Amino acid sequence: MKRIAVFTSGGDAPGMNACIRAVVRGAVYHGIEVFGIRKGYNGMIEGDVFQMSSHSVSNIVQRGGTILKSARSKEFLTPEGRKKAYDQLQKHGIEGLVAIGGNGTFTGAMVFQREFGIPTVGAPGTIDNDLYGTDYTIGYDTAVNTALDAIDRIRDTASSHDRIFFIEVMGRDSGYIAIQSGIAGGAELVMVPEVLTPISEVINTLQQGWNRSKSSSIVVVAEGDEEGNASQIAEKIKKQVDGQVDIRVTTLGHTQRGGSPSAQDRILASRLGLGALEGLMAGQSNVMAGIINNELVYTPFEDTIRLPKPINEDLLRMVKILSI
Ligand code: F6P
Repeated sequence: MKRIAVFTSGGDAPGMNACIRAVVRGAVYHGIEVFGIRKGYNGMIEGDVFQMSSHSVSNIVQRGGTILKSARSKEFLTPEGRKKAYDQLQKHGIEGLVAIGGNGTFTGAMVFQREFGIPTVGAPGTIDNDLYGTDYTIGYDTAVNTALDAIDRIRDTASSHDRIFFIEVMGRDSGYIAIQSGIAGGAELVMVPEVLTPISEVINTLQQGWNRSKSSSIVVVAEGDEEGNASQIAEKIKKQVDGQVDIRVTTLGHTQRGGSPSAQDRILASRLGLGALEGLMAGQSNVMAGIINNELVYTPFEDTIRLPKPINEDLLRMVKILSI
């Protein structure tokens, strides 16, 4: 393989730049020409492709976001869009791809590979940590620490005013950020999409706290919780305990997607970027590079997309025990 391209797609995640850097510098080291594609599949369709060198990735290991920019492409979902993308890759003589992203990115890569045979290896970049085939995804550790910093701050004011706070963290389908930041932040309760916590149980847990003279409480809610988002949950609770407690809601939102990546994310991203590149060079295709038990592994896209990555329910039990 003489010429490859790298791109980032889907929601950005801190550490994507460290991953791009590892792909580019790895390619230069191995004597392979490397191109960057801007704005994910949209840029592939539009031919927004440029040659990269070791110098193009100087001074980015510490930066959040992605220098290649990212997008969720609707056009790539169509056969016509994918054909345009293929024609652009042909035009630039690109023989293989490293795709940094999440489930949507890998679904696109899998279909594209089947249709046009361009080998692709993925590196898992999403703050959600919801990908089967790796213990951790790029950006997750930083996002947890960002959420934790906010939880600590909110606890100060919650305690001063004897309030209950519902703090919403990201995770459309996944409670990983909620559980980790909730445990580290000493939350009274963590609500996640994978396990239903009925409103009655939320009230019960909070009431037990009041009975033990707790004056303030923190409930961390993953945005995809079945009972609704944090505002909706707080409204339901207010209706039932009206006047008894002072409730506030904070949604952390996209703050969790930005910021300088943690050391752990930079190292993970570097390993996965180089792992994806070297996998591609060794003939791997349609697989995602991941780290499981500290070992580099490759998992078929089909499995990363299809198989759920279960949360550790024992951690939720621990939240309850530790918050008495
Ligand atoms: O998949 C990562 C993620 O941050 C989710 O947690 C969140 O639901 C979604 O992306 C938000 O996407 P967007 O930035 O397109 O609103």
